Amino acid sequence: MKISSATFVKSALELKDCPRDRRPECAFAGRSNVGKSTLLNTLLNVRGLAKTSKTPGKTQTLNFFDVNRRYYFVDLPGYGYAKVPLSLQQTWGEAVTAYLSQRETLRLVVHLLDSRHAPTGQDEDLLNLLEEARVPTVLVATKVDKLSKSERDASLARIRGKLELDDDALILPFSSLTKEGLGPLWRIITESLTVK
Ligand code: GTP
Ligand code: MG
Repeated sequence: MKISSATFVKSALELKDCPRDRRPECAFAGRSNVGKSTLLNTLLNVRGLAKTSKTPGKTQTLNFFDVNRRYYFVDLPGYGYAKVPLSLQQTWGEAVTAYLSQRETLRLVVHLLDSRHAPTGQDEDLLNLLEEARVPTVLVATKVDKLSKSERDASLARIRGKLELDDDALILPFSSLTKEGLGPLWRIITESLTVK
């Protein structure tokens, strides 16, 4: 997809605050610090559009970005960051769960996993939630620039094992640093957003 415009639209605290103009939408989900906001910036080729941080817990609302005045990209808050107060974790959890299971215009969720770490129970929960809600999902293993070839193979095998994926299920290796995986990911997103 050629990007003619990419701008921040709004932050939503819950499902009812989300835009209502029924544009096809792609959301980015996963643990805190996995690289969701960075990946969104890499896709749209605008540094700093979505706010990123070395410290987990940076994105705390559902952040909507207009792409080409036709689509929304949605940067979601991450899960699994213990230092965030439990009450806050619960409200985000509820908002994100409601969004993922009930958002009618959601065409694709990009589920990010940090290739350096084993998937957690919360990663499994997200996968199950998306499956139950029948939301098309693509799994992306982030930060592969930090791994050697053998470590990367081991990481992909670990993800496959832990999440009990079929042998032919796609896990797309990705790096915002080297832009590895950018082309294939764009093709999947474009297909999901443009298919009738
Ligand atoms: P929350 O908003 O807290 O849920 O985190 P997030 O998933 O949005 O992560 P964010 O994009 O803020 O990135 C977290 C850290 O990982 C930042 O320091 C990024 O620079 C770094 N990072 C993201 N992607 C990559 C990558 O592909 N390679 C490397 N080496 N670092 C990355
Ligand atoms: Mg973020």
